[in-house]
Amino acid sequence: MAATQFDLVIEGGTVIDGTKAPRFDADVGVAAGRIVALAEPGALAGHGARRRLAAHGRIVAPGFIDSHTHDDLAVLRHRGMDFKVSQGVTTVVTGNCGISPAPLEAGTPTPAPISLAVSGGEGRFGTFQQYLQAMERTPAALNVAPLVGHTTLRARCMADLGRAADAAEVQAMQQHVRQALAAGAIGVSTGTWYPPAAAASTEEIIEVCRPLSELGGVFATHMRDEGDGVFDALDETFRIGRELGVPVVVSHHKVNGAPNWGRSVQTLARIGAAMQHQCVALDCYPYTAGSTMLHDDPARLAGRIVIAHSVAQPQMAGRELAGIAAEWGCDTMEAVRRLQPAAAIYFTMDEGDVQRILAFEHTMIGSDGIPLGERPHPRLWGTFPRVLGHYSRRLNLFPLETAVWKMTGLTAGNFGLEGRGRVAEGCAADLVLFDAERVIDTATYEEPQRAAAGIDAVVVNGEPVWAGGRETGARPGQVLRRRLEAARSS
Ligand code: ZN
Ligand code: CU
Repeated sequence: MAATQFDLVIEGGTVIDGTKAPRFDADVGVAAGRIVALAEPGALAGHGARRRLAAHGRIVAPGFIDSHTHDDLAVLRHRGMDFKVSQGVTTVVTGNCGISPAPLEAGTPTPAPISLAVSGGEGRFGTFQQYLQAMERTPAALNVAPLVGHTTLRARCMADLGRAADAAEVQAMQQHVRQALAAGAIGVSTGTWYPPAAAASTEEIIEVCRPLSELGGVFATHMRDEGDGVFDALDETFRIGRELGVPVVVSHHKVNGAPNWGRSVQTLARIGAAMQHQCVALDCYPYTAGSTMLHDDPARLAGRIVIAHSVAQPQMAGRELAGIAAEWGCDTMEAVRRLQPAAAIYFTMDEGDVQRILAFEHTMIGSDGIPLGERPHPRLWGTFPRVLGHYSRRLNLFPLETAVWKMTGLTAGNFGLEGRGRVAEGCAADLVLFDAERVIDTATYEEPQRAAAGIDAVVVNGEPVWAGGRETGARPGQVLRRRLEAARSS
């Protein structure tokens, strides 16, 4: 090979390429944000490079793609994104669970959970295009692949969220979906489990999402029910995908509530059966507690609940709801009222189900982290290293190559992120260097804001963004717009 000038050479590492293929030793050469050479160990030593990273004894993998995030505004307000790049994440899928910061007008009422995502008057964008342009004006350290949220569209287009949309409202929402997809959104998400979208009918969702059939994109859903009604919710999800002819993503799959523990055997069988006939994807976070808005429905307040964040009573973050009520000498519902708006952590899942879902062949890894407050759920900082270190290395739930694939190649394929999620010549140089023997999460429920151990360097579009346990300050993140011409015709 003639002497090439590289921007970056990663020398002496072991590549896990994101396809599930066995690891191999190679040097990696990067130029203009892309991987341009994968060569025999030592082969790139004689070539010029602006930067070199020594990777001896380290794994070189594609940067992780977080398939499920609520980082929509964090990428604008907290552009270093330390809680994600410290884990090796180089791309976040935003706009999940029906919630996106666009399109929203200044005066649009935003009930919870939208309010948690778009606090105050700032952080709203009248059109999806304006939101994408804002991210491109002030890029983050990592890439963003945005979904547009159906609950946000309801807030924008409907005065009464307590009923299904009428024909004019469906039309208006459909128009917004068309515009968002034309701007580059990678799909639509729903969150019919949440009050502002619970009254939406299946037909409403199908009609609002119609433009997906024509323009391409995925349908991602926080389903109507992840507890007693999980099978009906799965059937509804599959029906929407079939009627639209688009891939569906079952977000943060779980079975909630002790009476349902163990039923992941059946839900996964149901998902596997549907996959015979249509495109179905799913993701999972590696914890037995979930986190979301603090509910004011007594039926949703069973079991152990820890306050993650309270706007009204910030000092209560980290405390159990029952203890707060006791201290205040009031009942739980009164305590909830005084804490709102707030987010909480709910211990509702069984470890056996979590492991079974993580180990299911088609499951992607997504954090569902909520970047708010002092005591967030530890998944915000710990998801990816926990899967690598705890579930793959310690529990041997699957080989490291499979773990990496679940956070890279599988995810890029499911969301249509071309040229991402693999270490191969021509692919974007989104890379993570980590120590397979040491990588582990350190974030806990008590101390959730702690960077993982064993992540040595993280590179986004050819630029190091994390090295030596800290941010480099680089902001090379891109908006990964869906390319319309690549959509249906291919
Ligand atoms: Zn959700
Ligand atoms: Cu979510």
